[in-house]
Amino acid sequence: MPHHLLGIIDPEVDFSVHNFVHHALLAADAIVQKNQLPIIAGGSNSFIQALLNNDTELPSKYECCFLWMDLAIPFLHSYMSRRVAQMVDNGLMEEAKIFFDPEIRDYDNGIKHSIGVPEMDEFFRSEGLVDGETRTKLLKAAIDEIKMNTCKLACRQVLKILRMREEFGWQIHRLNATEVFLQHGGDANEAWEKLVLEPSMNIVARFICKENIDLKPTAYEQLV
Ligand SMILES: *[C@@H]1O[C@H](CO)[C@@H](O)[C@H](O)[C@H]1NC(C)=O
Ligand SMILES: *[C@@H]1O[C@H](CO)[C@@H](O)[C@H](O)[C@H]1NC(C)=O
Repeated sequence: MPHHLLGIIDPEVDFSVHNFVHHALLAADAIVQKNQLPIIAGGSNSFIQALLNNDTELPSKYECCFLWMDLAIPFLHSYMSRRVAQMVDNGLMEEAKIFFDPEIRDYDNGIKHSIGVPEMDEFFRSEGLVDGETRTKLLKAAIDEIKMNTCKLACRQVLKILRMREEFGWQIHRLNATEVFLQHGGDANEAWEKLVLEPSMNIVARFICKENIDLKPTAYEQLV
């Protein structure tokens, strides 16, 4: 499945909600032109909310189906901690270092704003100035802060989803993936299929059929 809007922005550039809405609408239109179904995945809820806001064309042109994959909060936290540890193993520090500039303490724009970059400032800044033990402590503090900020963000996102459901009356289908994270290996795969994949496919299939019923009476006739 082709992915859109990946790698289109220079990390130094500030990519605003407005820019996102513009690019996402163009991509959605292009996908629909090809008779395909656009799927807007992940990312920031504020971007998604802006895209679906009544001021943009999207809600007037397209109907939306919402899928929300959720985890019970305690599992969300332990998952986030593990995920951050994994990102550190995979080179988070090396990547963050690219954006570190000892002359500048501005973390308001572009990728520098992302969780994982500002938290490392103190650690990078101390290089060559403090002993190894202090370096280790600073690193641990930075990683703990990244974990905490990631958890806070996740909680804010959950609240935001609940608020959008309430305020806009969006029918957001919640898929409880907690069990997937409690299982391992094959059992986790099985739980994933049963609790996330199959229900999602059913929801989307029903959504598409309903669309066809609304738009094309002939398709409806074929269906019944
Ligand atoms: C869009 O407009 C409808 C009808 O006026 C309203 O119910 C809904 O909350 C609005 N949605 C957003 C995202 O502003
Ligand atoms: C989600 O699933 C977990 C594990 O099966 C369960 O403990 C929890 O109560 C469920 N949450 C909701 C809101 O259904």
